[in-house]
Parts: sequence; structure tokens; C-alpha cells
Amino acid sequence: MTEQIYKGLAGVVADHTAVSKVNPESNSLLYRGYPVQELAAKLSFEEVALLLWNGELPSTGEKDEFRAFERSHRALDPRVRAAIDLLPLDCHPMDVGRTAVSVLGANHPLSEDSSPEAELTKAKELFAAFPAVVAYDQRRRRGLELVEPREDLDYSQNFLWMTFGEEAPEEVVDAFRVSMVLYAEHSFNASTFTARVVTSTLADLHSAVTAAIGALKGPLHGGANEAVMHTFEEIGIDTAETREDAAARAKAWMEQALAEKRKVMGFGHRVYKSGDSRVPTMKQALDAMVEYYGRGELMGLYDGLEAAMGEAKNILPNLDYPAGPTYHLMGFDTEMFTPLFIAARITGWTAHIAEQRADNALIRPLSAYNGPDERHL
Ligand code: COA
Repeated sequence: MTEQIYKGLAGVVADHTAVSKVNPESNSLLYRGYPVQELAAKLSFEEVALLLWNGELPSTGEKDEFRAFERSHRALDPRVRAAIDLLPLDCHPMDVGRTAVSVLGANHPLSEDSSPEAELTKAKELFAAFPAVVAYDQRRRRGLELVEPREDLDYSQNFLWMTFGEEAPEEVVDAFRVSMVLYAEHSFNASTFTARVVTSTLADLHSAVTAAIGALKGPLHGGANEAVMHTFEEIGIDTAETREDAAARAKAWMEQALAEKRKVMGFGHRVYKSGDSRVPTMKQALDAMVEYYGRGELMGLYDGLEAAMGEAKNILPNLDYPAGPTYHLMGFDTEMFTPLFIAARITGWTAHIAEQRADNALIRPLSAYNGPDERHL
């Protein structure tokens, strides 16, 4: 009898989750029951994090308490800084993020304490500490010094402050906050599932997050947001070009790429087959950035690629498609885009780690052997 193989676990329901619901039929995404668009419109990223961890919206007291906690845990740990300084400037920034989380775990006094209270503390600390890792790494690659965090700024404002050394305008902060909310959580995606697999062995939270970062790095998952920008760069960004001309060049590029059977990053999704629920909200944020920076030609490339992919294969953009150029316009280097995704997804990963631990079963599927029959030396 041949076993049924679910290649890539496609279509397999591996467990329950109460963290989020992805509904491809209605193109909707709910965090703990709330539509992500509503959360992105009305809440800070800090409030969304508390919702993901606790299951309910925070009270004013909870918000105030977390606000103080988060603002007092932002500084770059000197041991993390020392480890980052050992890494080459041309290594991928995802390697830096992965190393930083590993170092934080190795030094954490509660690293082997997996009680719900300890896990929540570690999750909150990681949430607060990670922006400094991204900001410092971005700056050292530009030959710039570390910028210390500021307690008078919120998470998004401070993230941009530490990265660029100046206060970001409100429009930019808002687009950044929206991207963080949209990237925070997405059910059993590859990196979250990785975090759950590691947790299921009863390993510690930092090991699970470190492994998740490894999964997120790949271009079929988180790495797609930077791959989108590489596509734009390959086509060529010409700031003097009209939107129409840019669209025409992008369309021709896409037709050629599809003729060569290339996979174009930022399009398609394992679960959503008729559109990614997060794209319209992220596209609004991108539009705001394009207007703010006066970069219409970039949208020519964006529209040209989208139209050509739609016409040829009816495959629609995913969240990484509008997120990539948004981060580019804000001034991040292309390779820093996926570490920004880590900063956001730490919330979802750690919510899933808690859920897995609370009702654990070792995750260990079967395989169908197709090697040589038994043979002897
Ligand atoms: N570019 C070109 N063709 C694509 C495509 C893309 N981005 N995404 C899917 N397709 C095509 C495949 O080539 C395949 O065509 P075929 O049947 O003629 O061989 C078909 O659509 C099904 O694709 P497949 O990769 O098998 O589906 P999947 O459910 O495993 O894929 C992704 C989901 C996300 C891995 C896939 O769409 C992809 O690789 N996208 C690009 C990476 C990306 O943006 N990832 C971020 C996801 S949020």
C-alpha cells in the first residue's frame, strides 16, 4: 500500500490555535478574533502584542505597565553588541538577528524556566530588545555609531530613531507601525511552525525563536520582502522616469521572467489563492510613503509587475510585495527588510510557543521510505 503523502504538509491541519484565524475564502485575518485591518487602523503595535500574548485587549493599567516595561528594556545588551561586532559586515542581517537572539537566550537567567510567567517575561524582553539589534546592525553597515534608545518615544518612533538617528515624521511612523501590526502573526506559517516544533521538544523559548528566524530567512517565506526589492533593482529604479514608462519596463521584465519560468517573489501564497488579506492595508501605507517621498515612478514598477503577473498567471501579490518598497522608501537597506519582519513576528512566535507549551505533543510526523530495499554488506 502506498501512503498518502502531503508534500510540504499542504492541506494538513496540524493542531488547533486560538492566536489567529486565516480565512482564504473571505480573505480575512483575525488576531484573537479581531480583523487585522481594524487593529492596524486603531491600535499601537504594543497593544497588538499584548492582545496576541494575552488573548484580550489590554486594560489601561496593563497598557501603562507594558509601556514602562518596554521602554526600560530597549538598550542593546553589551554582550549582544560584542557578538554582533564579531560578525562580518557582509554577512546577511538575518544571521545577525539569529545570533543576537541566541546570545540573549544563553545569558538569560530564566532561560531554562518555561513557566508561563517566565515565558511571557522573556517574550516581552525580546520584543523590547530586538529593535536595537536591527538598528545597530543597519548603522554599523553604514559606518555609523549606535544610537541610544529614547524613553519618550513609542516603539515605532524609537525603532526609527535608533536606526536613522533622527525623529521620523508622523506619516513614516504610522506606515512603519502598520507594517509591524500586519507582520505580527499568521497562524501556522513555516517559521511559526518551526517555533512550535522546537517548543514541542520542550526546548527553551530562545531556541524556538532562533530556529524560527532561520525559517524566516528563506525567500519563499520572510526573505520575499527583500527579494521584491531586488526585483525592482534588477529592473532598474530610475527616479527621473514617468510612472507609465516604469510600468511598461516592469511589464516587459515580468513577461520575460515568466517565459523563463522564474518564480517572482512577493506573489502567490500557500493559503490565500484569491488575494492576501493584508495587502490592501499595506498598499495604503505604501501609497502614503510614495506620496510623502514623491516617488511615483516606483509605483510604475509596482503596478507594471502586478498587472503582468495578473494577466499571465492570475497570481496576486502577498504582504511582502507592498512591504518591500515601503521599507526601501523609509531608508532601510534592502537586506534589513527581513529582520524588520523578525521584530514584528516575535509577537506571534512567542504567542504560539506559549500555546504549544500549554497543550504539548511532540511534533514528529512519519515518512514514506523510498530508498533501496534491505541489502547487506
Ligand atoms: N512566481 C511565479 N509563479 C508562481 C509564483 C510566483 N511567485 N507563485 C506560484 N507560482 C506558480 C508556480 O510556478 C506553480 O505553477 P505550475 O503549476 O505551472 O508549476 C503554481 O503557481 C503553484 O505554485 P506553488 O509554488 O506550487 O504553490 P505553493 O502553494 O507551494 O506556493 C509560495 C506558495 C508562497 C511558496 C509561492 O507562491 C512562491 O514561491 N511565491 C514567491 C515567494 C513569496 O513571495 N513568498 C512569500 C509568501 S507570504
